[in-house]
Amino acid sequence: MILITGGAGYIGSHTVINFINAGYDIVVFDNLENGHIETIETLQKIGNIKFEKGDLRNIEDIEKVFNKYKIDAVIHFAAFALVGESVTNPGKYYRNNAFGTLNLLDTMVKHGVKKIVFSSTCATYGEPKYTPIDEKHPQSPINPYGTSKLMVEMMMKEYDIAYGLKSIKLRYFNVAGCDSLSRVGEWHEPETHLIPNILKSTFGEGKTFKIFGNDYDTPDGTCIRDYVNVEDLAQAHRLALEYLNRENKSDVFNLGTEKGDSVKNVFDSCEKVLGQKIPVEVVERRAGDPAKLYADANKAKTVLGWKPAKTLENSIASAYEWEKTLSKR
Ligand code: UFG
Repeated sequence: MILITGGAGYIGSHTVINFINAGYDIVVFDNLENGHIETIETLQKIGNIKFEKGDLRNIEDIEKVFNKYKIDAVIHFAAFALVGESVTNPGKYYRNNAFGTLNLLDTMVKHGVKKIVFSSTCATYGEPKYTPIDEKHPQSPINPYGTSKLMVEMMMKEYDIAYGLKSIKLRYFNVAGCDSLSRVGEWHEPETHLIPNILKSTFGEGKTFKIFGNDYDTPDGTCIRDYVNVEDLAQAHRLALEYLNRENKSDVFNLGTEKGDSVKNVFDSCEKVLGQKIPVEVVERRAGDPAKLYADANKAKTVLGWKPAKTLENSIASAYEWEKTLSKR
């Protein structure tokens, strides 16, 4: 049985579908603070998954799951992930993302579960010293969200030394798109991410998409990011688990497309995919946005055999289908 924490959330739910399709038995653990019960209901229609509601900050909640099921490995998504909020409320991030994971690791050790795939982030690198960013780039996060994820990476390294707990840390760049069949998708409240915000501005009157700054040191002045498709990302988690099962050693991989797209590029692609003009205005920069982030993901390709297949346009098209579903809820 594979335990997927945060399986009711955006990336978690897509990964659950990938694992269902590959024939794994799954139990999802989620506190439903950001995840949705509707997502769990959808997943339960797709496959025979178990769901346990609980919070990693309460070690008893997670202990119960390990007592009830024979867990072979953990895929760990459950975390808060808003950079801005982490600056104003750092304790929330350290308590949940760092301390919550410590509870999870201790419970794994107690129950002899020695494999975990962890949802880390390119935010652990901080302000880039060079691009593309490879796994050797120094890690110097510039916000508590990134620090909380780096703390977990460090804990995992030390739990390997102390207890032989093997971990694969996957550092995602910007995740985009939704399930090709629109069964699950990106469902954040509030929504802060670029592509859903562009698409949301096409629903209802008077909504204008806001570009946060066009005076960055980039060719068109808007920030550059690496948008990796969520279904491609989900596949990487399965490859990571298979690698752990095969090699039984800890490692870290960047997950990105290795292609940088500016905010303006992404906006233009949205207009093209939708075949319509979208209202837009340029406003002030958002605090804490680096000008340019994109991945060197060669290691995931060569070592894990990961082949990201979807384009930015694919991600926009699937995200739009999902937004249409969401707008009717
Ligand atoms: N942006 C806009 N308008 C919007 C929303 C975003 O112009 O309405 C811009 C941002 O300023 C940024 C780019 O679009 O330049 C991407 O912003 P997102 O909020 O979509 O993504 P981030 O790059 O800020 O954050 C993502 C993840 C984080 C992760 C981070 C790593 O959401 O969890 O990448 O850098 F930590």
